[in-house]
Amino acid sequence: MARKRRREDGDTDVTGHDEADVEGELARPPRRIAVIHGPNLNLLGTREPHIYGTTTLDQINDRLKDLADDLGAQITFFQSAREGALIEHVHSLLGRCDGIVINAAGYSHTSIALRDALAGVGIPFVEVHLTNVYAREPMRHHSALADVARGVIVGFGALSYELALGALLHED
Ligand code: DQA
Repeated sequence: MARKRRREDGDTDVTGHDEADVEGELARPPRRIAVIHGPNLNLLGTREPHIYGTTTLDQINDRLKDLADDLGAQITFFQSAREGALIEHVHSLLGRCDGIVINAAGYSHTSIALRDALAGVGIPFVEVHLTNVYAREPMRHHSALADVARGVIVGFGALSYELALGALLHED
């Protein structure tokens, strides 16, 4: 990665930045990303594998941790089946987090309160879904979160999370 690479004098990194830019980037504190998983995602691996595959939540988190390490970011993980716990966790991130990757699972389609929490803290977030919710039952086509999200990524399985993390960290 360019941001981690030490360069020789006169070298130019792949983004075309000069040495001072790269040194400035290295001096920046690591960005802090919170990953939030909603209800039933703890069952991944055995939950309806014909729909959600066999990758477990721990495997998803491990892959995200590796990617965050590669990208020089700090990352935390939280999962709950309880709407109030998810909301309280979002509140706890105020001032302690630069971006959120959230798969609110079933609450994505119903929770005005979770949407209000995310909008309330004002932390940029990416809504993710493992499955392409728009190719599934109509009840999954509406998201209460999407219009206040920085972006939405659906349908790529565990990769949806990694794409979301990469997108948040790509932005300045
Ligand atoms: C899901 C899609 C939701 O509709 C569903 O309730 C989930 C998982 C997904 O990741 O594809 O629990 O968020």
